[in-house]
Amino acid sequence: MEEFLVKINAGGGYNVHIGPGMISECGKIISSAAGQCRAAVVTDSNVEILYLRPVMDSLEAAGLDPISFVFPAGEGSKNLHILSEILESFADNGLTRSDIAVALGGGVTGDITGFAAGVYMRGIRYVQIPTTLLAAVDSSVGGKTAVDLSSGKNLAGVFLQPSAVICDTNTFNTLAPDVFSDGAAESIKYGILTSEHIFEVFERGEVRKSVSELVSECVSIKGRLVEEDEHDNSVRRLLNLGHTIGHAIENLSGYTFPHGHAVAIGMVMISRAGEKMGFTEIGTTDRIEKCLIRNGLPTSTDYDPEALYNAALSDKKRSGDNITIVVPKRIGRCELMTIKVSELFDIISLSAQR
Ligand SMILES: NC(=O)c1ccc[n+]([C@@H]2O[C@H](COP(=O)([O-])OP(=O)(O)OC[C@H]3O[C@@H](n4cnc5c(N)ncnc54)[C@H](O)[C@@H]3O)[C@@H](O)[C@H]2O)c1
Ligand SMILES: [Zn+2]
Repeated sequence: MEEFLVKINAGGGYNVHIGPGMISECGKIISSAAGQCRAAVVTDSNVEILYLRPVMDSLEAAGLDPISFVFPAGEGSKNLHILSEILESFADNGLTRSDIAVALGGGVTGDITGFAAGVYMRGIRYVQIPTTLLAAVDSSVGGKTAVDLSSGKNLAGVFLQPSAVICDTNTFNTLAPDVFSDGAAESIKYGILTSEHIFEVFERGEVRKSVSELVSECVSIKGRLVEEDEHDNSVRRLLNLGHTIGHAIENLSGYTFPHGHAVAIGMVMISRAGEKMGFTEIGTTDRIEKCLIRNGLPTSTDYDPEALYNAALSDKKRSGDNITIVVPKRIGRCELMTIKVSELFDIISLSAQR
């Protein structure tokens, strides 16, 4: 079986196994990472139908005596109620401190399962089996877990690195096109950040041909940033490229606009402002726009600069009067820029003018 292996030196250190058909290996991989224990699989109602059976079979065959918990699919489930149901189900099934939680699904499943693992009995181990492109290249690696509160997204959570990540790239074949594009936006982000090669694969529209290799390159980039800055105080913030304006768009839409789509628009806008400020190489924005369109993503928004600015101010990445934004120099290189909150309005206004 074709397998790409990426090692991440954060937490206790863990391997990310990437390749087509990897789900059938999950029992073996988990028992070698975690030893003899019980596995508690958490998944959502869509992924249950598609992939729960083969995962349970593989865990069973490896002697991990699995149990499962299924919640209704969607961001609306990433809350304290479902978290509490997951914890109660772990307890009802007699899960102990030496057992392991398994997140099977997209970013919602990964975030809530990681949080449950982080607090159940003061912390048990967990494994990620991402089944969306976004979860594979972004949320399954790095150890950020969360649920949403009524006043905002991801407001409660813990940092907890997984014990292993198992990414079966065949699972992307059943994703809705919009959900796939969402992950494409985050992958294109890695290209703009540090790898012109990744960007070119998307530019040529060839992502499906070499998706396992591409996921492994994205995960390596994220891994290096996480290793250097596990708790998100410095270089890890580069991963927020496109996210200041992106979060503002999501916020204004009442979180109905998909995250990756919002980030796509945010990347175009910040690159355009960078070009106008003389910071970003001319032509960068044009290339980013064409690449995003080719991958089914939007590049502009109807929200006006003032509304975007006000929504951006509620961003949790703000610290006092300053906010750190990420600006491309060119494709393959970006820099952090700390600006006064008041300067953000000028940048958003610049970025909105074609
Ligand atoms: N922890 C982090 O570092 C981090 C980073 C980025 C995003 N996130 C979080 O990730 C979440 C978004 O992730 P997402 O886009 O994966 O959302 P998701 O988990 O809701 O998945 C999107 C949809 O695809 C379905 N699905 C999943 N896998 C499938 C498959 N293989 N085939 C068919 N359908 C499938 C799901 O049921 C769901 O309806 C957000 O909550 C965001 O906050 C976390
Ligand atoms: Zn993101």
